[in-house]
Amino acid sequence: MTKFTVNDRPVQYRMDPETPLLWALRDASNLTGAKYGCGTGDCGACTVDIDGQAVRSCQVSIRETEGRFVTTIEGLSPDRGHPLQQVFAADNVSQCGYCVPGMIMAAAVLLKRNNDPGDEEIDAAITNICRCGIYPRLRGAIRRAGRIMRGEEQVEAAPPPGVKPEDAARTVPALRRP
Ligand code: FES
Ligand code: FES
Repeated sequence: MTKFTVNDRPVQYRMDPETPLLWALRDASNLTGAKYGCGTGDCGACTVDIDGQAVRSCQVSIRETEGRFVTTIEGLSPDRGHPLQQVFAADNVSQCGYCVPGMIMAAAVLLKRNNDPGDEEIDAAITNICRCGIYPRLRGAIRRAGRIMRGEEQVEAAPPPGVKPEDAARTVPALRRP
């Protein structure tokens, strides 16, 4: 039995302790925001926050996650209202969107540490790969989310997701708030 916390909820996985965290999140918890891209730690599509660090969840086992606090894109905000999520929607940053949960989680970790990062810091923190090439919009989106976090700017409310959090929690029990 492997125990840790996912999106503020205690979880216990009855799985092989060497199971990659990504598969436990996706297959056992139905948290499918983190994506499988390469499985080799290169693309970042599977990025989650573990104890305040951006971690590629395909590269860490549930045994190694024991006792730690994991946040996935589903847990970043209860209503998709995190400034990064708002900016990505308002500024049409995404293209196919496959890489975006990982991009946002890596960027959220960066902005938690420093909400006014320079280009070099952004480039160092966001090593995620995007096959659609959203890179030109990415720096701007991160900087704009930082300005929103600093109270210097507001974002037009992104279109409502059309799914109430309580409805999402009915479909995905792991989204229920404790
Ligand atoms: S799937 Fe984990 S880094 Fe690509
Ligand atoms: S938006 Fe398509 S892979 Fe990044």
